[in-house]
Amino acid sequence: VSNGGKARLLEGRRVVITSGPTHEPIDPVRYIANRSSGKQGHAIAAAAAAAGADVVLVSGPVSLPDPAGVTVVHVETACQMQEAVDKALPADIAILAAAVADWRVKGAAAQKIKKDGSGRPPVMEFTENPDILAGIGHRGEGRPALVIGFAAETADLLANAKAKLERKGADWILANDVSTPAYGTGIMGGDANEIQILSRDGVEAWPRLDKRQVADRLVARIAAHFEPEDE
Ligand code: CTP
Ligand code: CA
Repeated sequence: VSNGGKARLLEGRRVVITSGPTHEPIDPVRYIANRSSGKQGHAIAAAAAAAGADVVLVSGPVSLPDPAGVTVVHVETACQMQEAVDKALPADIAILAAAVADWRVKGAAAQKIKKDGSGRPPVMEFTENPDILAGIGHRGEGRPALVIGFAAETADLLANAKAKLERKGADWILANDVSTPAYGTGIMGGDANEIQILSRDGVEAWPRLDKRQVADRLVARIAAHFEPEDE
């Protein structure tokens, strides 16, 4: 099987990955969401599959094709994503790259909300979504051996990422600064990513790389984590 000449670094490993945004309905025609192209999560899924892993990708709504050799579960909401991840477990490795909406609308309307002519906008109440990464990180029995999350921050990158590592029980956090403009040279929606990997052993800064290169490098680092003698 041709896989671009890549070593089968993750042969026999099962990987569950989340990617993309979630859409939380307001009514049948409207939703709230995060900015996320899904490019990084999908690239990781593709790289892990090319490295021989058994990959389940739980994807929110994105305009990307399903990566080759990957089992893709398409979801819309955070609750559906949580459910799909639970079904996909157990796994050796969990990589939570999705930009999950933190809140959903409480009691989303079954019918389209109409303007009532008063000029007053509707008032919405929100409720917090489940934290999928924290749920996996703090799992007792059946916790994947390696739990990896992301932290996209606009300020205090390392302090915020470190806090997330601890709070969510993750092994690694891939932190990136998204304060750069959304378009042009920026990171969100773009093809490049500048990552710092935090673990309990410290911080490792990667140069600015194409998202596919980030994915390949992450796969290599994961393989080295499981088989350090091959480093
Ligand atoms: N995450 C998740 N489920 C959620 C929220 C976040 O699995 N409901 C995961 C993301 O996929 C990412 C990590 O947690 O890997 C960090 O997401 P982030 O939004 O930065 O963290 P939050 O805890 O939501 O903090 P913040 O208030 O900064 O948004
Ligand atoms: Ca969040």
